[in-house]
Amino acid sequence: MPEFIRVSASDALPPGSARAFPVGRYDVAVFHVDGEYFALENACPHQGGPIADGWIEERTVTCPWHAWCFDLQTGKMTLGDFAWIPRFEVRVEGDGIYVATEPVPQ
Ligand code: FES
Repeated sequence: MPEFIRVSASDALPPGSARAFPVGRYDVAVFHVDGEYFALENACPHQGGPIADGWIEERTVTCPWHAWCFDLQTGKMTLGDFAWIPRFEVRVEGDGIYVATEPVPQ
């Protein structure tokens, strides 16, 4: 059973936005898309770009450095199975956003 830590108040992350939070030994990007929350390690597998600063469109984020695109739900590249970003469980309880301290095993 993974441990979860509170990273933010839920109203601090409006729909269509993302923000990076320290979660244990990871820097985790949390995305809010139309009431759903997703969390990926905040490091693009290409050259480490901060995906929390990327462009969000539906359930896809585009890395702000060289435009690689990732599915927010799986962490996988949308163009093919070339690369992926570790993903974390995330949930909203009460007024808080909680993220697991370890990524989901692949
Ligand atoms: S660092 Fe993300 S696409 Fe290059």
